[in-house]
Amino acid sequence: MSVFILALETSCDETSASVVADGTEVLSNIISSQIDVHRKFGGVVPEVASRKHLELLNQVVGEALTAAGLTLDALGAVAVTYGPGLVGALLVGVSAAKAIAYGLNIPLVGVNHLEGHIYANFLCEPGLDFPLLCLIVSGGHTDLVYMAKHGDCRVIGRTRDDAAGEAFDKVARVIGLGYPGGPLIDRLAREGNPKAISLPRAYLEEGSLDFSFSGLKSAVIYTLQRAEQRGEEINKADLAASFQEALIDVLVDKTFTAAQDTGVSTILLAGGVSANSRLRLAITERAAGSNYRMVVPPPVLCTDNAAMVACAGYYKLLRGATAPLTLNAVPDLKL
Ligand code: KG4
Ligand code: ZN
Repeated sequence: MSVFILALETSCDETSASVVADGTEVLSNIISSQIDVHRKFGGVVPEVASRKHLELLNQVVGEALTAAGLTLDALGAVAVTYGPGLVGALLVGVSAAKAIAYGLNIPLVGVNHLEGHIYANFLCEPGLDFPLLCLIVSGGHTDLVYMAKHGDCRVIGRTRDDAAGEAFDKVARVIGLGYPGGPLIDRLAREGNPKAISLPRAYLEEGSLDFSFSGLKSAVIYTLQRAEQRGEEINKADLAASFQEALIDVLVDKTFTAAQDTGVSTILLAGGVSANSRLRLAITERAAGSNYRMVVPPPVLCTDNAAMVACAGYYKLLRGATAPLTLNAVPDLKL
């Protein structure tokens, strides 16, 4: 008999609920984005995000069950993101999940949001062989993760300053594109020349798998300021394309160096920035020219969603890693 897991994701500005059967079959994945609410503030306002989650969650859960063609009594477990993220936003999902688990007397599974992002890959390819390497690129994280087996994640490289998504969003703001910046830069960059403007690529010291994107962000700001002082017009599409290319060059190079260092044969891509069309193409092309198996989830599973949380929750459930009803939100939860 199938195990149906209901998962909730409320760590940032997406209210999402999903039902997944046996960790592989996505029966529903409802995502209600709050982008329109936060856009006028130029970024996510934590208090507003919590209130919106409260307003939306019951309805989103109802829609997820209806779309899956199930009622609450069919559920085998409830999984929820309990960190990292905005504490008030996380608490809405965690409280709701605890109430559902208690009311139905079913297991509760707490999921690390980053592990959720990684498990989007297992939704697409359930039979992946270990060990694996995963590049997680999101709004708050840029991590290279080595996975020896399910649930065994070791961060072997991380950003020392801005996360990749943060750099996209900040650069979009200074170019005057609006929020959220990642998808807007992605689109504008398609019309630009990635070689038009020379920008720095930070590889850091020999052998380091860490990242640094704040210098690149500052270089974009100086380029704009210099042009303004000289009264010159900067081609925004060229600037967006050059910035994106510099960032992606480093991401892809370091990922393949890490793959070689660790001896893995499979590489996964995860997190909101992996919805970026240029990154998807660049990393797939590099893998095609080598012997690595590359997995790139569809964009809807790259950005925040509850289906990935259900999948990670399923594998935790199989290992018996359930949570007590005292589960709390952990805003700075580590992998
Ligand atoms: O994983 P995610 O949805 O939320 C976090 O866990 O942070 O990632 C959000 C980040 C934002 O910075 C957003 O601008 C970026 O992912 N993003 C993109 C694209 N789509 C979303 N960045 C570049 N290109 C995209 N197409
Ligand atoms: Zn995320």
